Amino acid sequence: MCGIVGYVGTTSGTTALDVVMEGLARLEYRGYDSAGVALVAEGQVAAQKRAGKLVNLRQALVDAPLPASRTAIGHTRWATHGGPTDQNAHPHRGGDDGKLALIHNGIIENFHSLKTQLLADGVGFASETDTEVAAQLLAQAYAGDLTEAMRTVVNRLEGAFTLLAVHADNPGVVVGARRNSPLVVGRGEHENFLGSDVAAFIGHTRQAIELGQDQIVTITPESIDIIGFDGAPAQGKPYEVTWDAAAAEKGGHRSFMAKEIAEQPHAVADTLLGRTDESGRLVLDELRIAEEDLRRVSKITIIACGTAAYAGMVAKYAIEHWTRIPCEVELAHEFRYRDPVIDSTSLVVSISQSGETMDTLMAVKHANDLGAHTLSICNTHGSTIPRESDAVLYTHAGPEIAVASTKAFLAQITASYILGLYLAQLRGTLSEEEIAEITHELGEVPHKLSHLLDSMDRVREIARFMADSRSVLFLGRHVGFPVALEGALKLKEIAYIHAEGFAAGELKHGPIALIEPGQPVFIVVPSPSTAHGLHGKVVSNIQEIRARGARTLVIAEEGDDDVVPFADEIIRVPATPTLLAPLLTVVPLQVFACELATARGLDVDQPRNLAKSVTVE
Ligand code: M6R
Repeated sequence: MCGIVGYVGTTSGTTALDVVMEGLARLEYRGYDSAGVALVAEGQVAAQKRAGKLVNLRQALVDAPLPASRTAIGHTRWATHGGPTDQNAHPHRGGDDGKLALIHNGIIENFHSLKTQLLADGVGFASETDTEVAAQLLAQAYAGDLTEAMRTVVNRLEGAFTLLAVHADNPGVVVGARRNSPLVVGRGEHENFLGSDVAAFIGHTRQAIELGQDQIVTITPESIDIIGFDGAPAQGKPYEVTWDAAAAEKGGHRSFMAKEIAEQPHAVADTLLGRTDESGRLVLDELRIAEEDLRRVSKITIIACGTAAYAGMVAKYAIEHWTRIPCEVELAHEFRYRDPVIDSTSLVVSISQSGETMDTLMAVKHANDLGAHTLSICNTHGSTIPRESDAVLYTHAGPEIAVASTKAFLAQITASYILGLYLAQLRGTLSEEEIAEITHELGEVPHKLSHLLDSMDRVREIARFMADSRSVLFLGRHVGFPVALEGALKLKEIAYIHAEGFAAGELKHGPIALIEPGQPVFIVVPSPSTAHGLHGKVVSNIQEIRARGARTLVIAEEGDDDVVPFADEIIRVPATPTLLAPLLTVVPLQVFACELATARGLDVDQPRNLAKSVTVE
């Protein structure tokens, strides 16, 4: 996600710009595709911004130096609304006089209606971003007091956001605000800082203040004032940062993978943001395929690789159930070599975190050549696969740095479900009430994920205990089958342990021969409420392998007592409708792999022989 830095004050030998540029460099790990700074000097706001890496911004600052200043804000942008261009980079200006500059992390859900109002007021826009709407609103609301203007504006915004603003008439002041998006304060001597995390200022101070939800902070060199969105005085939570700079980048986690696993509630929540209206109806203004064409779709083919393909396998269950459109899932590298039956009524959905996977890209091009409608589910704005596709539905997981995909997987499933529900809405295969019920349940998932993540201590103990295992098997059924495959993939790729995932029903057709005394087997158990008695069948599978000596590690819903007699270990997940369960059941398997690989002393984030983005066929 975007990186944010704000600074007021002076440290010996450095300027506000130096401090902010240093902070942006420390926030590079968050991933970004453009960067910019703004500072207050000589009664004006001066700014510079560039698409691409910080080196481009640095060069622009050499070519056209900004004046010295003691007040600055800086931003690294991970594109959401609008591609990664100079114009869309932050800061954004507000007002005709350009005296106000604003940076933003998050998504302003109601930006479209706000922008319509601003356009009707005659306000012009220089970018495609939701952020510029906030900048223009702030300029409209400003009457000499930047904090008060911020308070007016945040109460009109919906969604998740961190905002930082400076105004030419308020030198020595930076105002920040947060809702559902991070912002921390760094307290210095005659200087203060704001950052999306402590890495932004760890080179200068270790005294931090955690802001609460819906709070506004105003910093000057000598003061830090916090109020709520209602204007009432508020308190932050002071603490001392004990991490070193490297740990700070990882938010105190031992690896990026661990950090990204912890970020999953946000990945799901952010991917859901702005995709439904108050009544639970899906609103996908961003899709560029005509509704009429979507109504005519006769077949959906999902193409992807690795973890993204497993997300597609999960999605197939839901999409077919909700839309009654046949849906197949194919590894992208197999798709174009087998003469697939695709025509203009086919919808080919690619899933890719990076948007650069060559196998998936080539499959999308092939689908285009065959005349299909192509839709990309992708986490990376401006990447190649969305550009080659007719339409794109972005996941908002934020940058994923660890090679092993975790939060992107959950975001991919979430986005696929949004697509499935949208198609069901268009084609009338689900009622409005049914759609509202499912979107409500999806909205509950982030909270359940947080609860689940807080209860992973036993999983970590099991992982450490199993650090020397030579082989681990994973069983699942229905949507639990791709979860089993994903659990096995995680273990293989980061712990280098032989691992296999199977459909539980397939056991008796071969894999059960692998079971010998002590063989660890994870079993992803469907909810007892799952149709067709599936739960009972999986419980029988557990009995069958346990009778042959397997050590059974059972992932089961809270309150499912049927599994208790046959489980050597039970890992509980919160109850949720069957089709949404993969968003929860995969988490213990991610945590298990991450902890086990760490216990083996391996580089969890950069496993051997693998690259984050596979850009060759
Ligand atoms: O960037 P993509 O989502 O297209 O990448 C696809 C796979 O290469 C990726 O999911 C890979 O399997 C991960 N390393 C799994 O953790």
